[in-house]
Amino acid sequence: MTGNAGKLSGKVAVVTGASKGIGAGIAGVFARQGAKVVLAARGTGVLDYAQALRDAGYEATGVQCDVSDYQSCVALAAKAVETYGRIDVLDCNAGICVLGDFLTSDDSWRDAHIDVNIKGAWNACKAVIPEIIKVGGGSVVITSSVTGDMVADPGEAAYAMTKAALVGLTKALAREFADRNVRVNCICPGYIRTPLVEGMAKQSDPDDPERAIGAIASAVPLGRLGTPEECGELCAFLASDEASYLTGTQVVIDGGSTLPETTSMGQ
Ligand SMILES: NC(=O)c1ccc[n+]([C@@H]2O[C@H](COP(=O)([O-])OP(=O)(O)OC[C@H]3O[C@@H](n4cnc5c(N)ncnc54)[C@H](O)[C@@H]3O)[C@@H](O)[C@H]2O)c1
Repeated sequence: MTGNAGKLSGKVAVVTGASKGIGAGIAGVFARQGAKVVLAARGTGVLDYAQALRDAGYEATGVQCDVSDYQSCVALAAKAVETYGRIDVLDCNAGICVLGDFLTSDDSWRDAHIDVNIKGAWNACKAVIPEIIKVGGGSVVITSSVTGDMVADPGEAAYAMTKAALVGLTKALAREFADRNVRVNCICPGYIRTPLVEGMAKQSDPDDPERAIGAIASAVPLGRLGTPEECGELCAFLASDEASYLTGTQVVIDGGSTLPETTSMGQ
């Protein structure tokens, strides 16, 4: 039941945005791979999910934390150290995505994305990396997106800007902390089926959200959306010693959705 023989055995991992979606997938895989996991998110749902992991035999602690608030991240790091004695891995996954019209949307729309997506990762890294350095090094994984490097639809200015920024943050931190044995990498998911994507599907096709999901799936070369667990497996690899020579990289996990050149097939 417990993942003592897993690739994260003996490690303590903090995962932000872990109450649902990709973060819940990451935390679940980390636990199965033997990590003691500290799950962070704003609401009480993260406490319930941590309890469910404990009920399944894993070591997990839930912490209510708003990553846009630096002191909240400091408290998260302190709770992790108080509970498990150390931190080896930080997975900065918390994020928001709200589509908007660039010219007419209030700038609070822009600022909300900056606060959670950019400052959230910044704050978590600033609060937790000193703890990782104390134990001789470890790994940071940041959830960016294929959106940012590329853009699919109008309305993504705030989101794309922040996700592109996370690639820069990844590379800068990888350079800055290489001499202290802290590796920093990011994942760039395409469409992963989560409450966030289900909400967007509902927005684009209120009568039949499954039709919108189906339309997305049919445009992906692998023919489906990804799962949070598939993201979790990638993060577990990047967080583990198996990835000991990887730092400053961005790994795309998108079922091939950013792969195709313009095609004339089907015309
Ligand atoms: N779902 C996708 O297709 C997709 C694709 C690319 C990137 N991403 C990124 O993956 C991450 C997770 O996305 P998801 O689809 O699972 O979203 P989701 O909305 O299903 O879950 C988001 C998680 O982040 C948490 N969160 C939000 N604001 C927070 C804050 N201020 N402090 C702490 N926690 C906060 C939520 O509580 C939740 O646990 C995001 O960074 C998102 O940008 C998602």
